[in-house]
Amino acid sequence: TPIQAPELDKCGVATNLNTGQQLDINCCPPTSQQIIDYRLPPVFQMKIRPSAHRVSPEYIFKYNMAIDRMKRLPKDDPRSFMQQANIHCAYCNGAYDQPGQGTLDLQVHNSWLFFPFHRWYLYFYERILGKLIGDPTFALPFWNWDNPKGMTMPPMFVDPKAAIYDDKRNQANLPPAVVDLGMTGNKDPLQVVANNLTIMYSEMIRANANVYDFMGQPYRAGTPVNPGPGSSERGSHVGIHVFVGDPRQPSGEDMGNFYSAGRDPLFYCHHANVDRMWSLWQYFLPSNKLPDKRITDPDFLNAAFLFYDENAQLVRVTVKDCLDNLRMGYDFERIDLPWLDYRP
Ligand code: C2O
Repeated sequence: TPIQAPELDKCGVATNLNTGQQLDINCCPPTSQQIIDYRLPPVFQMKIRPSAHRVSPEYIFKYNMAIDRMKRLPKDDPRSFMQQANIHCAYCNGAYDQPGQGTLDLQVHNSWLFFPFHRWYLYFYERILGKLIGDPTFALPFWNWDNPKGMTMPPMFVDPKAAIYDDKRNQANLPPAVVDLGMTGNKDPLQVVANNLTIMYSEMIRANANVYDFMGQPYRAGTPVNPGPGSSERGSHVGIHVFVGDPRQPSGEDMGNFYSAGRDPLFYCHHANVDRMWSLWQYFLPSNKLPDKRITDPDFLNAAFLFYDENAQLVRVTVKDCLDNLRMGYDFERIDLPWLDYRP
């Protein structure tokens, strides 16, 4: 059977997975009497998520205005900035148990739920931001860390006056520091760029002998946490979290720790590119010996999550409804994929 949506009224104490200590923050969302099964609305106009290094001043202004408004919502509004950040904590730090499985934790990382969970998370986050500025076409930016032109923190995020700024980041890794997807510690920028491209080739193409190598291992009702991450989750995805997390903080906050990662607006920009990698892998990559890139197992397709939508309505979503980003109403700005040529 598939993983069921969590029971919000049973949400409990979360754990700092970096230290094993209980967290003294409550990351449980408000509860609601009414849960609606979410239906994707018809798409009238495709939202195009832009590369974060290429956005216009107008875009940056709008994006900051939206985040600022999110920060000003009442604390108990499920769409507010901290409530949105806490979604990550609740789903990733053991606050939820798997329904019907005793005290077995629910964990959306390190399994085939990784891409679908984060896709839905960003989907509603983006709709909330759009609603707050009255712009239904607003699209989140993606951090294009797979292209040499995007291999630094996007400049708009390092303006200390911006709403999308966060001071809990590794100060040694602000621009012009080059992202180190392989966590090599190498300081030669040219070598790091080449290594990043090789890593991208490997995790997008070479490392994947079957669909689970990319998507992550099966995770069903009753499966213990962390059955195994896919190549992209384990590689570039973790690499960026570690690159941004602040070593001055007790445990890698914000980006370097599950419970706090969503407090940095850069998190959603990072995950927009992770999401883009999934879409590229599904629809754009040259055939790479994978007979089929779809998982048809009903335990995958029917796995469910709960989110609050842009109207603060609690909705239940399923994996099968998030497999096609175009059906969800968004696409990505087209950017070259130089790693396609980095066959080791
Ligand atoms: Cu839910 Cu990048 O982690």
